[in-house]
Amino acid sequence: MLKIVVLISGGGSNLESIMDKIDSGYLNNVLITKVIADREAKGLLKAKNRGYKTKLIDRKIYLNTLDSEILKEIDDETDYIVLAGFLSIIGSELINKFKNRIINIHPSLIPSFCGAGMYGLKVHKAAIDKGVKYSGCTVHFVDEVIDGGLIIDQAIVEVDRFDTAKILQEKILEKEHEILPKVLKILSEKSVSVINGKINIREVGE
Ligand code: GRF
Repeated sequence: MLKIVVLISGGGSNLESIMDKIDSGYLNNVLITKVIADREAKGLLKAKNRGYKTKLIDRKIYLNTLDSEILKEIDDETDYIVLAGFLSIIGSELINKFKNRIINIHPSLIPSFCGAGMYGLKVHKAAIDKGVKYSGCTVHFVDEVIDGGLIIDQAIVEVDRFDTAKILQEKILEKEHEILPKVLKILSEKSVSVINGKINIREVGE
């Protein structure tokens, strides 16, 4: 069983997509052991109402100690930390302890429209302003560079001429709800390692 802790800051639709896919049996080998939020996130209540353990670690109270507060909440049996719309920056203490075991979802095709300050509608506005024909989302490992870790999977959407940032955001969110569970399924069923700076996915025992 793949034990994950999910970190959120907002509505938690990606978290919901994971919970739904656990309920449907698609993620029959994944267990959410806790949901942590760094602010009063709507998603925290959704998780609580579905019977999950939750914890609020207010980023304004734990300004300089967020990492260690999060670590206190994550037991040694945890396989992966999933950032599903988590807006605080994760520090090296957490990154080093969970090397290549923290995944993030970002609503663009990395390396475009990512990095510091690129979150929410800003990402989609930048994509539209640039006139890209395709955008999408990326699931990647987290390292010290914001949105810079190894890419695990991506999905694309077509950008129509009349798309607003809001419309593009919604189109991409739909894809996010597919690829984040898909990556978790892979992590729960296959052997995933990093070899020479590239992600290597094999069948278990291969
Ligand atoms: C998503 O677009 C995700 O890619 C980004 O934050 C947003 C979170 O949305 N990192 P939600 O809270 O899962 O609805």
